[in-house]
Amino acid sequence: MSTGTTGFDPRKLARAEVLDLPVYSPGKSPEDVAREYGIRGCVKMASNENPLGPSPLAMEALARVLDSVHLYPDTACLRLREAIADKLGLGPENVLVGHGADEIFDLLAYAFLEPGDQVVVASPTFSSYELAAMTMGAEVIRVPLRDYRQDVEAMAKAVGPRCKVVFLCSPHNPTGTVVGEGEFTSLLADTAGKCLVVLDEAYVEYVEESESWDSLGYLRENPHLLVTRTFSKIYGLAGLRVGYALCSPGVREILEKVKLPFNVNRLAQEAALAALEDAEHVKRSREMNSRGKRKIYRVLEELGIPYVPSQANFVLVKDPGGGSLFEGLLQHGVIVRDGAALGLPGHVRITVGDDEMNARLEEALKKLSSKGSW
Ligand SMILES: Cc1ncc(COP(=O)(O)O)c(C=O)c1O
Repeated sequence: MSTGTTGFDPRKLARAEVLDLPVYSPGKSPEDVAREYGIRGCVKMASNENPLGPSPLAMEALARVLDSVHLYPDTACLRLREAIADKLGLGPENVLVGHGADEIFDLLAYAFLEPGDQVVVASPTFSSYELAAMTMGAEVIRVPLRDYRQDVEAMAKAVGPRCKVVFLCSPHNPTGTVVGEGEFTSLLADTAGKCLVVLDEAYVEYVEESESWDSLGYLRENPHLLVTRTFSKIYGLAGLRVGYALCSPGVREILEKVKLPFNVNRLAQEAALAALEDAEHVKRSREMNSRGKRKIYRVLEELGIPYVPSQANFVLVKDPGGGSLFEGLLQHGVIVRDGAALGLPGHVRITVGDDEMNARLEEALKKLSSKGSW
């Protein structure tokens, strides 16, 4: 590494924990693939974005506020907090809005964790929880999945006296499985008075009715519970970065102290307010997802490719080619997420697309299958 003419080496000043951190690696964009592999015209089914696009009401709201971006946004996000609270039967004192749900995980880490503390996560799981914890020098206790599900009982057992936060994700990224209400309530009871329980529900709006239950009903009696949700998935606003925490006023007040002023920009706040009211867009997004998911299941079954039934907008697929499926799909213009990067080598995670994207996926899988790629 070059230290320039002064010999200054920033690594000597940085905290050891920070030097050890991996850098978050996102899914590849069609532009990345064109640059790195020379393959053009790819479809991206890798980052669990909404293929329907943003809510039309959100786009109108964005156009309306463009002429006021010279003004700082409301640092308290009050209107958006009130709207979220009204919709969910809570009060604004229960809501904290972040620069994506990702910011909420960081705020939790800043406010609650220091070296010597522990957090409990499933392994693998969405990486932001452990990255946030590791940034603060906390120890990450990883509890292996069982049959692609979080082993909530084992996670509860892993909670020791130094544990400050347990992170659950439902539906779980990258497997699409959900946490059951019974196992969740036992974990809540076991951890009461000991540590925080974070339930990340980034994909909750996609869960089928038969699997769905109301986590928010547990907030009142369990001040150690914090639920996170986002506008990045079903609301189609990933590029604007808006997520939120639902929690007790006491926890919210603490998180508020470590958040940056004006953390959610003006455009993002207005678009999220409009998207929240756009029931038609949410309904169409859900329908497109369940139609697309059924179609993907049919193709996989026809080709004899195993997959994990999902309650989210993505499907985890077992690679019948023993590791070549990610590259194979890429060569046929379909970008998915390589399971190796998500802690599940031998798998790929495929985001459900619109009809055209799903047809591209089908065509690519059929070509690979007929070429005897597995
Ligand atoms: C499980 C899970 N939680 C949180 C997030 C991040 O959400 P946001 O875009 O609001 O930061 C993601 C994004 O992919 C996710 O998969």
